[in-house]
Amino acid sequence: MPAPRVLSGIQPTADSFHLGNHLGALRQWVSMQADHEAFYCVVDLHAITVEQDPAVLRRRTLVSAAQLLALGVDPDRSALFVQSHVPEHAQLGWVLQCLTGFGEASRMTQFKDKSARQGQASTSVGLFTYPVLQAADILLYQAARVPVGEDQRQHLELTRDLATRFNGRYGDTFVLPEAYIPPGAAKVLDLQQPDKKMSKSLPEAGCVNLLDDPKVIGKRIRSAVTDTGREVVFDPEGKPGVSNLLTLHSAFSGETVSQLEERFAGRGYGDLKKELAEVVVTALAPVQARTTELLADTAELERVLAAGAARAREVAAPTLATVHERIGF
Ligand code: ADP
Ligand code: NA
Repeated sequence: MPAPRVLSGIQPTADSFHLGNHLGALRQWVSMQADHEAFYCVVDLHAITVEQDPAVLRRRTLVSAAQLLALGVDPDRSALFVQSHVPEHAQLGWVLQCLTGFGEASRMTQFKDKSARQGQASTSVGLFTYPVLQAADILLYQAARVPVGEDQRQHLELTRDLATRFNGRYGDTFVLPEAYIPPGAAKVLDLQQPDKKMSKSLPEAGCVNLLDDPKVIGKRIRSAVTDTGREVVFDPEGKPGVSNLLTLHSAFSGETVSQLEERFAGRGYGDLKKELAEVVVTALAPVQARTTELLADTAELERVLAAGAARAREVAAPTLATVHERIGF
């Protein structure tokens, strides 16, 4: 049996990915390569649904790709590319927009949240149709699996609905993608507000970025909000802060949470934070060094991305050609 095909994308909307992106998504991108045919893209079309500065967007696209390579995405094995380099995304996106009901798109909760936050005047139509473009990203590659967090489930359902609708109207064309929860994905909480997910949208003190200076990483981890009491025990309900630190430690050190509880018994939160800071800094050092190296030769990085886009188009172009033919173009 051929390896199942998987598609995933990430927005180039920050100068560095953070520990949540890494442990909740990107680490799985790397491990899934072992038993999947993977298509991974930096989704710059999605990034412009909110206002972007061109120079910043260009830089972040390259920095994002460099980090993905540094983390272990292997361009000889997986197609790593930039979404705008494969024009079929926008083209299939348009076709699917014409199959999407206005009411159906209006029900997307992520759009409702985002547009409410930014106000109607600065909300673009692109933000509204974002989930339809996401459907195009997936369906172009006939992906059998899409790794999704809870917040993306509704978008995957829309993707399946659109695929089913197209197939029903025009004949079997698209593979229906399944949600895939890759093993080992961890949800990382904000270090200052451990009732929330770590996010680039929260104040930076609660966030550790992969490319942060080791001093900054150490400081942020040592200043993490912990819980009342002194005992290092894993109790996500009662002690979300400490439990988050244990999750992080375990993810990077490979020690199990119970081994850590045992080793830190009677030692207090301070010791845990100090050691965790060292563990994270040590784990990120090679990723940082490799990212810097890759960014020192942007011509080579662009060559890798161009090869990835060519590989992606080998699959995307025939899918789009079939779609166009079936709808009467
Ligand atoms: P942010 O919340 O910082 O804006 P994104 O929404 O761009 O991050 O998320 C990119 C990817 O990283 C998604 O797959 C998302 O599920 C994952 N992710 C983001 N934050 C976390 C987190 N705190 N814990 C686990 N996974 C996360
Ligand atoms: Na987000």
